Amino acid sequence: MKTISLSFTTKKHGYTIFIGEHLLENIVEYIPLDNYSNFFIITDTNVAPLFLPRLLQGLPKNTKHIAIAPGEKEKSITTLQHLWQALIDAKCDRKTLVINLGGGVIGDMGGFAASTYLRGVDFINIPTTLLAQVDESVGGKTMINFGGIKNNIGTFTQPRGVIIDLTTLKTLPKREFLSGFAEIIKYGIISDVIYFKYVTKKHPLKFTTRELEKIIAGSCAIKKSIVQEDEQEITGHRKLVNYGHTIGHAIESLSLETSTPLLHGEAISIGMVAEARLAEKCGLLSKEAVSTIEQAFVMADLPITIPKQLQLARGVKSISIGRTTTDIDYSPVKGITIETLLDKMRYDKKNEKGIINFTLPTDIGKAEINQQPTEKEILEILLTIL
Ligand SMILES: NC(=O)c1ccc[n+]([C@@H]2O[C@H](COP(=O)([O-])OP(=O)(O)OC[C@H]3O[C@@H](n4cnc5c(N)ncnc54)[C@H](O)[C@@H]3O)[C@@H](O)[C@H]2O)c1
Ligand SMILES: [Zn+2]
Repeated sequence: MKTISLSFTTKKHGYTIFIGEHLLENIVEYIPLDNYSNFFIITDTNVAPLFLPRLLQGLPKNTKHIAIAPGEKEKSITTLQHLWQALIDAKCDRKTLVINLGGGVIGDMGGFAASTYLRGVDFINIPTTLLAQVDESVGGKTMINFGGIKNNIGTFTQPRGVIIDLTTLKTLPKREFLSGFAEIIKYGIISDVIYFKYVTKKHPLKFTTRELEKIIAGSCAIKKSIVQEDEQEITGHRKLVNYGHTIGHAIESLSLETSTPLLHGEAISIGMVAEARLAEKCGLLSKEAVSTIEQAFVMADLPITIPKQLQLARGVKSISIGRTTTDIDYSPVKGITIETLLDKMRYDKKNEKGIINFTLPTDIGKAEINQQPTEKEILEILLTIL
């Protein structure tokens, strides 16, 4: 088992990330359960049948839980209200420990519910997707989507602990696993060339559990060192983790308007390749480094150009008939084009004073925040991924 400890000066508390196998059923060894009178698990209906019984084995008999529907659509104010109500119905007091068991949607929303209920009760994260294990569960951002904008309402609240049980990855669909691996490769590019070489030496699915443990611990350690320096995004240092995300988020949100959306890691894989090329255009990165980055994503079976069907895609709309909701294709064409991409990037919430802001690599293992290429340079690069 590996452990990583974080400490923050702002709120004078720290916590530990535990990484290993079969930790779920032995939670008492990692979290001081005696400090709490109530335990409330927040999970989703995919994850509950897989892992809830194992987790309940190690918790007191009075533990309550709620399983919400899976998916990003649930990261909403409506679901959040259900969570608050469920906490009230379960008579949760200030001595409650909320346990978030699931992917990033559960971690973000469960963390937000806990950080606002009774002005904040303690919570821990038990992330069950690779993306949530190496990224979402570490760093203390809790949030929901509101008004059609992603991740715009939330708090900075650190969990009391993070338990990463590697056995949960066995049931994760391959596509979700590879999507999470894109963030792992990102950590190598932005901060550690030796780590980059290690994680790209073979196909992500070929790593043994022991190697994966080391890789996940490595990603958590890199994220820790970045967020500890800038817990609440004040100095800007935390923007380092945004590499690939300026273009990647635009691709992701446009793809979500179609019937064949990309996963987050797939969109940022294309974004990281495009932004590496942009760094080269700005004279920051060598041609060789760009091609090493491209090869890393290709070898991990991640996309590096926008799939053709997304460029021609039509819109998708949810309609309700009786008690069922169905997604239907409809015109007009909603495909990803240069114009729609640039438009999304112009309105990115990370921009300052209307200028599109990038974090760009300057070598493998190093990156610079606050880079502002011209729109002409950006446009030329976007042409290479379409
Ligand atoms: N707070 C942060 O700093 C931060 C960072 C990165 C991402 N995020 C957020 O995380 C979310 C994405 O997280 P995600 O990719 O984990 O998505 P997710 O939570 O939607 O999980 C993906 C799917 O996998 C299922 N699942 C989860 N664990 C499983 C397992 N072990 N076996 C089988 N199926 C499993 C889920 O039910 C879901 O259908 C986004 O909302 C994103 O904004 C937040
Ligand atoms: Zn990301």
